[in-house]
Amino acid sequence: MLDSGHTDRAGRRVTLRPVDDDNWRAVADLAPRDDQRDWVPALAARYLVLTMRSDVWTSLAVYADGSVVGHVMWGVDDDGSRWIGGMVVDAAEQGRGVGRAAVRTLADWLGGPDAVHPVRLSYHPDNAAAARLYTSLGFAPTGVVEDDELVAELRR
Ligand SMILES: CC(C)(COP(=O)(O)OP(=O)(O)OC[C@H]1O[C@@H](n2cnc3c(N)ncnc32)[C@H](O)[C@@H]1OP(=O)(O)O)[C@@H](O)C(=O)NCCC(=O)NCCS
Repeated sequence: MLDSGHTDRAGRRVTLRPVDDDNWRAVADLAPRDDQRDWVPALAARYLVLTMRSDVWTSLAVYADGSVVGHVMWGVDDDGSRWIGGMVVDAAEQGRGVGRAAVRTLADWLGGPDAVHPVRLSYHPDNAAAARLYTSLGFAPTGVVEDDELVAELRR
């Protein structure tokens, strides 16, 4: 379990835990708002299939106290860079500080003081919520565009 002590705005402790026999259904059922489906799949189930089929990505369940409220995944690229992807907070849980706490927790782990490799993620330039969230946490665009998404790197 990844727990950096971050909470959402209601004071719920936000942690990242493996997807397991008990929580996978709740993770699979997580859904963004309909108007966010330009950026992410309709259900987090798609990310679970991806991570099962991939040697690169690992899914994590985002918990607020004891409830599954989101999905995020991490991976290691060929150049050693660490990637954050698949960030989805369930529509009913958005705007409460969960996304911020989840990305901070994963970035703390991947980019901690002893980290050697850069921490990167990407987002569509029209995805204003994602852009504001990542920028406010210290991710800066690198100038690289991949699959129509801006690649951003954590500045330490
Ligand atoms: C992006 C996302 C993960 C943010 O999660 P969240 O829990 O709603 O975000 P938070 O409540 O922690 O807010 C964090 C920041 O995000 C930004 N943000 C969140 N919702 C926003 C909105 N509707 N419009 C603009 N900015 C928004 C703000 O900068 C906010 O900062 P604040 O804490 O100073 O208000 C969530 O909106 C989501 O799941 N979106 C659909 C999937 C997606 O686009 N994922 C990213 C793919 S790269």
